[in-house]
Amino acid sequence: MKVEFLGHAAFLITEESYTLLFDPFLTGNPLAAKKADEVKVTHIFVSHAHSDHLGDAIQIAKNSDATVYAVFEVAQIFEKEGIKVQAGNLGGRLPADFGSVKIFQAFHSSGVAGGSASGFVVELIGKKIYFAGDTALFGDMSLLESEEIDLALLPIGDIYTMGIEDAAKAVEMIKPKKVIPMHYNTFPAIQRDPMEFKKLVEARTQTEVIILKPGESVEI
Ligand code: NI
Ligand code: MN
Repeated sequence: MKVEFLGHAAFLITEESYTLLFDPFLTGNPLAAKKADEVKVTHIFVSHAHSDHLGDAIQIAKNSDATVYAVFEVAQIFEKEGIKVQAGNLGGRLPADFGSVKIFQAFHSSGVAGGSASGFVVELIGKKIYFAGDTALFGDMSLLESEEIDLALLPIGDIYTMGIEDAAKAVEMIKPKKVIPMHYNTFPAIQRDPMEFKKLVEARTQTEVIILKPGESVEI
């Protein structure tokens, strides 16, 4: 599986004929690696409705005729636009032809009335990805250990989400094989050094930290 970082919390993950896009904030992100009309995908995951996560999801979903996975209230934003959705809520495992999608809680506001912010545990052709979305550190992340996560995507930028220290604690609980930090350096307020995160995590755990600049990718 190929994992490409598009900047902020946006990732493009490709395996076989499936192209999964997470939180595509491209327009308006000066560090974005791609423009919205350059992205063709099969599935889109939207963790919550803040503009730095909802981003270009509507346009890309329409251009690609993609299916959007989200919590019910966020999914309604897409349904109103005539976009195909797989809506669920926290704790639900949703069917997917590439494996499965479990909506995992996130401690954060949702950006839409009544909805919860979320993360996702995505099983993609036998590999498991945990995309945390925007979240604080919370103890129930330890429940993810039994999911045997291959790759965790965790925010480290602080202010709006976990910072480096808390994200390192999250890795200790989740015990993923690999982790890629996200949600840092996009704005001055979340300017952080991902090498600090790498040093902390690799000193305390067996998890490999992969740092990607926007536009870089890794084969996992
Ligand atoms: Ni947010
Ligand atoms: Mn955010």
